[in-house]
Amino acid sequence: MSITISYISSLSDKESTALLFTDGSAVSGFYKSEPEKEYVEKGLSAETALISINQYVKQLFFIKPKAENIAYRRKENLRKTGADLFKQVSQLKLESLQLASYTDDPEDVLALCEGLMLGSYDFLKYKTDKDKKETKLKQIRLYGKGLTQERVEEIRNLIEATCIARNLVNEPVIYLTAEQLSEDISQLGEEAGFAVEVLNESKIASLKMGGLLAVNLGSPNPPTFNILEYKPSDAKNSQPYILVGKGVVYDTGGLSLKPTPNSMDLMKSDMAGAAAVVGAIYALAKNQVPVHVVGLIPATENRPDGNAITPGDVITMYSGKTVEVLNTDAEGRLILADALHFAAKYNPQLVIDLATLTGSAAKAIGKEGIVYMGTASDEIKKAFEASGNEVYERLVEFPLWDEYGSQIESSIADIKNLGGPDAGAITAGKFLEHFISYPWLHLDIAGGAFLTSPDSYRGKNGTGLGVRLLYHFLKSSVG
Ligand code: BES
Ligand code: ZN
Ligand code: ZN
Repeated sequence: MSITISYISSLSDKESTALLFTDGSAVSGFYKSEPEKEYVEKGLSAETALISINQYVKQLFFIKPKAENIAYRRKENLRKTGADLFKQVSQLKLESLQLASYTDDPEDVLALCEGLMLGSYDFLKYKTDKDKKETKLKQIRLYGKGLTQERVEEIRNLIEATCIARNLVNEPVIYLTAEQLSEDISQLGEEAGFAVEVLNESKIASLKMGGLLAVNLGSPNPPTFNILEYKPSDAKNSQPYILVGKGVVYDTGGLSLKPTPNSMDLMKSDMAGAAAVVGAIYALAKNQVPVHVVGLIPATENRPDGNAITPGDVITMYSGKTVEVLNTDAEGRLILADALHFAAKYNPQLVIDLATLTGSAAKAIGKEGIVYMGTASDEIKKAFEASGNEVYERLVEFPLWDEYGSQIESSIADIKNLGGPDAGAITAGKFLEHFISYPWLHLDIAGGAFLTSPDSYRGKNGTGLGVRLLYHFLKSSVG
């Protein structure tokens, strides 16, 4: 993140400033003339929340949130306005900007800042002319009634965590192998203050994690199993929350090869679940949220090779259950199942897994939301959906009805890894359900984890989907 964010207790009148207000009289002192005021007031309308004027030594941006009855939608509008504001600021080549809040709720300006910052994200690591491409904007200063330094820093860390997840998703597999992912996670752990244990291939083999080993068979690079733990002394929960993330650093489909061009191109993003887990734990640790949380990330490539697992093979999972592998492209559920079984030994309060698991989930709701299902209580699901609305990573529950289970019955093993042509997101969930023994939520983030065209502050490429959701939910659950 190249832009720094800080809190200020008084405004400078020499600097470019974005003024956020609902009542025009709060900002009337900023106009140099009556025509300026008329121009701004005329310009702001039901369609336009943002208008700017040039006062020679500085630029002023006037932002009036659109009328909106639902609080979380008002915040989302402000995030989007933040992304629009970034575009204008960047075009003007401004190097610093004050964000001044004159609305009743200090969360308004934080949402604006969040949208601006997330909208400014760009993955420039592999650009040789990155200096030219990088935004000139270097400094954001936040000012406003009710705003605190603490809250500004919290949001800054959460934005940074989201960008860390995006970076991981955007890294191609030529860099981000399973072992490199483990190394990156270890470094982030040192920086933010969470513990990381990496199980290597021989440890994974001695534990008999049959799902992870099977998926890795065709890969020239070894798998890893990553255990992240953040356990502050003031943790409010006695049983940990566990976050499990699918870490397929590249999914070719294996011997059930994905057809090219198209369906394979974006599969460096098949570790977006893992990235969300890393980002969320990073933010919780950085902000010292009093919650005990464990992250479990099985990581591997899924590739075809002479040794690769073949359709029709039967494997024994870490839990002892046998699985007939009928499609090697349904690999995510195999590695997740081992991690879900591993989670049981922590006697968790709740386990949440995140995975780019099925094309079916993406087909069902597109990039607009997250398909989820699970065995957690209705109360937990309600709280979870509320968090989804707040951060605008919206959740839609799919059923885990018994009847779907028959689709994954195998004639020779306990279950098979492939369901029928319909309800693919659900049959994947039914598969995972065989490996859990605690309250559980499964999030299929295939639709929104990676975008091929820009969408406001979500940008394009990796979105960091899940980081803000998990952070909000876990913080609220101990708050
Ligand atoms: N990683 C894919 C799912 C995916 C598809 C993620 C599109 C993001 C965008 C997963 O491993 C997969 O290939 N799933 C198969 C399962 C099927 C063979 C049962 C699918 O959804 O087609
Ligand atoms: Zn696959
Ligand atoms: Zn996959």
